Amino acid sequence: MTFKNQSFLIIFFSLYFLSSFLELTKANPSVFVTPTSASSIVSGGYWQLLQSSVGISAMHVQLLPNNKVIIFDRTDVGPSNLSLPVGSFCPKNDCTAHSVIYDVVSNTFSPLHVLTDTWCSSGSLDPNGTLIQTGGYNEGDHVIRTFTPCDTYACDWYELTTTRLTDRRWYATNQVLPDGRVIILGGRRVFTYEFYPKDDFLNNKSFYLRFLVETKDPEENNLYPFLHLLPDGNLFIFANKKSILFDYKRSIVLKQFPLIPGDDKRNYPSTGSSVMLPLKLSWAGPPVVEVLVCGGAPAGAFLKADKMKVFMEASRTCGRLRVNDPNPQWLMEFMPMPRVMSDMILLPTGDVIIINGAANGTAGWEDAVNPVLNPILYLVNENPFRRFTVLSPSNIPRMYHSVAFLLPDGRILVGGSNPHTRYVFTGIYPTDLSLEAYNPYYLDPKFNSLRPFILSVESGYTVSYGQRFGVSFSLSLYKWGAAFVALISPSFTTHSIGMNQRMVVLNTASVVQTTMVDYKLVVDGPTNANVAPPGYYMLFVVHSGIPSHAVWVKVM
Ligand SMILES: *[C@@H]1O[C@H](CO)[C@@H](O)[C@H](O)[C@H]1NC(C)=O
Ligand SMILES: *[C@@H]1O[C@H](CO)[C@@H](O)[C@H](O)[C@H]1NC(C)=O
Ligand SMILES: *[C@@H]1O[C@H](CO)[C@@H](O)[C@H](O)[C@H]1NC(C)=O
Ligand SMILES: *[C@@H]1O[C@H](CO)[C@@H](O)[C@H](O)[C@H]1NC(C)=O
Repeated sequence: MTFKNQSFLIIFFSLYFLSSFLELTKANPSVFVTPTSASSIVSGGYWQLLQSSVGISAMHVQLLPNNKVIIFDRTDVGPSNLSLPVGSFCPKNDCTAHSVIYDVVSNTFSPLHVLTDTWCSSGSLDPNGTLIQTGGYNEGDHVIRTFTPCDTYACDWYELTTTRLTDRRWYATNQVLPDGRVIILGGRRVFTYEFYPKDDFLNNKSFYLRFLVETKDPEENNLYPFLHLLPDGNLFIFANKKSILFDYKRSIVLKQFPLIPGDDKRNYPSTGSSVMLPLKLSWAGPPVVEVLVCGGAPAGAFLKADKMKVFMEASRTCGRLRVNDPNPQWLMEFMPMPRVMSDMILLPTGDVIIINGAANGTAGWEDAVNPVLNPILYLVNENPFRRFTVLSPSNIPRMYHSVAFLLPDGRILVGGSNPHTRYVFTGIYPTDLSLEAYNPYYLDPKFNSLRPFILSVESGYTVSYGQRFGVSFSLSLYKWGAAFVALISPSFTTHSIGMNQRMVVLNTASVVQTTMVDYKLVVDGPTNANVAPPGYYMLFVVHSGIPSHAVWVKVM
């Protein structure tokens, strides 16, 4: 079902509920007007430099439910540009920080203490909003670390001492499961998955997955596999060019999807990116489930870049697969430019931004050239011939070891880039310690009359499965029928992969006008924990294609 169909349903029901209550058809001539199609309102957006340096390069990031962001790099390549507070403990005799906590609202940051090496690790938030971060390198590769957000700058990293990962996890991917556990899958020279918490015998071991062997080629190209929890409770796993439907509970491959067409590899070091497109819940039945994979590099590109410093053109294609179709087939589309090491971000509008990366080469040290400075917008429901829009460029290359993710105010936070082993501030692509924000078109003040402002969420900012609840918001000009409520989970982002990123558009039961400028959307909570695993989500109201700022809700 498309947004337009859904809008039509909302129009229908809002009229059904309201026509007798308010004489809106007379007051508002725009009833029955199809919402403006995004393509006609898209403009380039703009960039803001937030911090010229936070002292470390942002290799891994996680947005926390108190609007702070935990940022960390590796710890084993010498000093960073940020000192730990005088007199505080210096892990491994290094008195510089390799992690910071950044406060989005005040645009300030403060150093944290990481004890063991976190290089190329993975993570996710548990249902209470605590970061569970797993693995890394050397002495850190079996370590499980947690970070529980607090409202001051007093909280810090904690390393579990008795509970450790069963296998080392370096370049693994994590996904929160419907029961609140997390699965940690793959990694370099590790062909298994395991679970956290490790509180019983069954969770305290790892499980072999042959697919991880089958997808490894001489360049690897299967690290940081793409992992999406599907609404049927199974996992979609993509690595290299292959993908499977996997029942992790019984350790059974239920289905092999067709190979993604073409010669391009999609996973590290031929780093592409992937999102599951928004799940739109409705009375019409289970949601259509589509996975989008964009960018990467042709076979052989990594060895050429790494050994010969010859930088092949990156992949130009995106593949889109309807995974719950009886006979799924990849739809291949061309991006406006080749791209490797880009991040893909679900926007509250339901569209996708592709940002950061390079046009030649692959991931790896000194292995890419030709940074791509323009983000591109992928309009999910647009005619394929008008799918992409090229947006305004940044002037900072964001290549290997850079990140980008959605903030609750609708901006995209962008940071990092360090194609060198150590911190190097000379040359064409210096180590970057800055943070920027990209402001998409919908933040333009010209849309302020259409922008909803959330007043409250009934049920005290918790959302239960299948529970009907109201979201109240104010709006200066309501175009009937063009609003929906969306939940977006905060991703753990590193190496172009947004782990746990998902968007769920809730089923709208009715729209009620409560005062001259206030409205209430009555919606149904996610069907079950396969659709939206428990935890914190950003709740957005989107009206006529323009999102509100999000409020945090706890889905449970
Ligand atoms: C980081 O510190 C080095 C050494 O003091 C200095 O040369 C460099 O300019 C600093 N980089 C940034 C981005 O602040
Ligand atoms: C979350 O918090 C609740 C209440 O404090 C506690 O009972 C529960 O064990 C916690 N869950 C996790 C996964 O930490
Ligand atoms: C998990 O396994 C490790 C290593 O065998 C052991 O030391 C630890 O006690 C086990 N933990 C639990 C909860 O079973
Ligand atoms: C990028 O790839 C294209 C196509 O192969 C090539 O023509 C171009 O020279 C490459 N650019 C660089 C800077 O290597």
